[in-house]
Amino acid sequence: MSQLRLLKKPITNMSIPANSSATAAYDIVVVGSCMTDLVSFTPRLPKAGETIHGHKFFIGFGGKGANQCIQAARLGAKSTMVCKVGKDSFGENYIQNFKSNGVSTEYVGQTSEASTGVAPITVNDDGQNAIVIVAGANLLLNCEDLVRATNTIRSAKVVVCQLEIQPVISLEALKIAHGAGVKTIFNPAPAIADLDPDFYKNTDVFCCNETEAGILTGVEVASVEDATKAGSKLLEKGCTSVIVTLGAEGTLLMTQGQRAPLHIPTKNVKAVDTTGAGDSFVGALAFYMANYSCLDLEEMSRRACAIATISTQAQGTQASYPSRPQLPPELF
Ligand code: RIB
Repeated sequence: MSQLRLLKKPITNMSIPANSSATAAYDIVVVGSCMTDLVSFTPRLPKAGETIHGHKFFIGFGGKGANQCIQAARLGAKSTMVCKVGKDSFGENYIQNFKSNGVSTEYVGQTSEASTGVAPITVNDDGQNAIVIVAGANLLLNCEDLVRATNTIRSAKVVVCQLEIQPVISLEALKIAHGAGVKTIFNPAPAIADLDPDFYKNTDVFCCNETEAGILTGVEVASVEDATKAGSKLLEKGCTSVIVTLGAEGTLLMTQGQRAPLHIPTKNVKAVDTTGAGDSFVGALAFYMANYSCLDLEEMSRRACAIATISTQAQGTQASYPSRPQLPPELF
């Protein structure tokens, strides 16, 4: 089904309310997805057509948008999530999860037309994963939901979007934020090869992993040098800064008008489960952009990388995300 057919109302007919000073200002607004993660631990990832034994299973909270929001909230950001879950037990549990983590649920919608999104995930003994998402209710987040949240988006410090909801909704959220002078982070995951060029123009920090950088630029990213080539191509498309996350190699940061790309290495650790480490990075980066604007993007990325690296040392997605009291004071 085309993206536009999923919309109840064409985006061009959106009537955006005037800004209201009565709206609560959040540090971070995430417009994005919630998924229930169904996680199996296996010795290795199965091949096509193969059945293998796993040795552990659990159900956790995931979805790239919600992961990023929860990580930011655990660091102390005043956060809200614009999203949609089903009228089912996974949806009810998810709303409770937001409340337990201090995330506002003012813009969490529920629908009986689709189930809460789910993500069957397989994690191998090296901590690497393979993920399928069945987005369900996430794809019903629509223009009306965005209109309701418009003043909140306009008055935020940072707005964060990804691609597990309808791309047109993510793009519109970025446009609303960018147009109001709000800092935007866009995480193009899962990546779309022919991404609308407006995504780049409305993004301050474009943050992707090696695979996403490869899909978006055609450059296969297997080294810092490759990431630099891909990063240059992404910068040319119009975003202010590009961050390519490189797993154990840390991150690469490139900014318009700055001479050299910056490779920011990270601590060498034994990864137990890398699922959601990129989301931990994005959530932490949003926290620093909203609350530590005195730091430069290099230092923010270094600290966000340290937090994401910690998340790889425990199992689960949000289950592995550290909270502020568990982190060294020099990160704050
Ligand atoms: O980035 C990790 C996340 O991707 C998981 O939590 C899963 O839900 C999918 O959205």
